[in-house]
Amino acid sequence: MKTFKAYRTTEENGEYISKIEELSFDLLSNDVIIKTAYSGINYKDLLSISGNKGVTKKYPHTAGIDACGIIVSDKTGTFTSGDEVVVMGYDLGMNTDGGFAEYISVPVDWVIHKPSRFTLQETMEIGTSGFTAALGISKMLQMGAIPSDGPVIVSGATGGVGVYAVQILSKIGFEVWAVTGKKETEELLYKLGAKSILSREEICVPKEKPLVRPRWAGGIDTVGGDTLVNLLKQCKKSGSIATCGNVGGMDINMTVLPFILNGINLLGINAADTPMNNRMKVWELLEKYAEPSLVSKTGKEISLDQISDAIESMRKSSHTGRFLIKL
Ligand SMILES: NC(=O)c1ccc[n+]([C@@H]2O[C@H](COP(=O)([O-])OP(=O)(O)OC[C@H]3O[C@@H](n4cnc5c(N)ncnc54)[C@H](OP(=O)(O)O)[C@@H]3O)[C@@H](O)[C@H]2O)c1
Repeated sequence: MKTFKAYRTTEENGEYISKIEELSFDLLSNDVIIKTAYSGINYKDLLSISGNKGVTKKYPHTAGIDACGIIVSDKTGTFTSGDEVVVMGYDLGMNTDGGFAEYISVPVDWVIHKPSRFTLQETMEIGTSGFTAALGISKMLQMGAIPSDGPVIVSGATGGVGVYAVQILSKIGFEVWAVTGKKETEELLYKLGAKSILSREEICVPKEKPLVRPRWAGGIDTVGGDTLVNLLKQCKKSGSIATCGNVGGMDINMTVLPFILNGINLLGINAADTPMNNRMKVWELLEKYAEPSLVSKTGKEISLDQISDAIESMRKSSHTGRFLIKL
């Protein structure tokens, strides 16, 4: 029986155990079979591996919401054997076995040809993190954000989404203020294009007043909770804050005043369900502005057997950038 390796999570007496297993090719039953070249680790993978039922309902399961590789077969005839392709989001790695495996099998509608400016490796250095940053930025631009409006802020700046948000916004020409809890990463953030570094403590402490002196013209928030509230309260009139994450909390406690007096736009970001036509526009923005070679210096390339260590450092938030998994 032909088998392939996968980093598999199993539920045993309420505990979630992940290790490398040999799986049968019979599991690869969707339209398209892809030989995985690279994957990457996202925060959602950490949740899936930890047994978060909001992400993954059934185990055993293979996490990995991002994957790229080479087409082995396509029942629909849309792709040809040998095509270089990318799959990100949809249900990959959630309730469909994901990219932490030597092979994946997915519905054909989830697959795109590799964007031509990038190598396969670079598409995964970008991954859902870079895509999410670009999606947030594209929404800010649609709302009319321009560099002359003033500085823009990025929270969770050394995380997977944050590093791309800093890099792309600065490449477009915005003055970027990066918020981080890791003082030692200042140099790295300046190299990505940040102009100022703000401490996490300063930005995540709740401010009592419903509106506070405006400091930035917009931003990307990956943290949620009080950080998002502060970003909204201190945003200049008509500015836009794109919100994608909740590493710092799910609840937001605030008044409607930033919206009805200052006209602030709160832009919701859901990368996984981005419709295909919009998805391609976000990749165009990435092809124009993203510099994966610059951002990859902030992260680390690992193999399947190093995923557990990488997940642990993400849990402690002691990592920077993205973990790229070479299959
Ligand atoms: N909506 C979507 O479509 C979408 C897509 C991708 C990701 N996300 C979400 O976006 C968030 C960030 O994802 P990611 O991949 O960038 O995660 P990540 O690599 O783990 O980065 C998160 C960063 O947030 C900061 N941070 C961690 N704990 C914090 C806390 N308690 N309070 C304040 N800041 C904290 C840290 O940066 P510093 O040390 O620099 O402060 C950390 O590096 C996650 O919630 C993820 O689920 C959503």
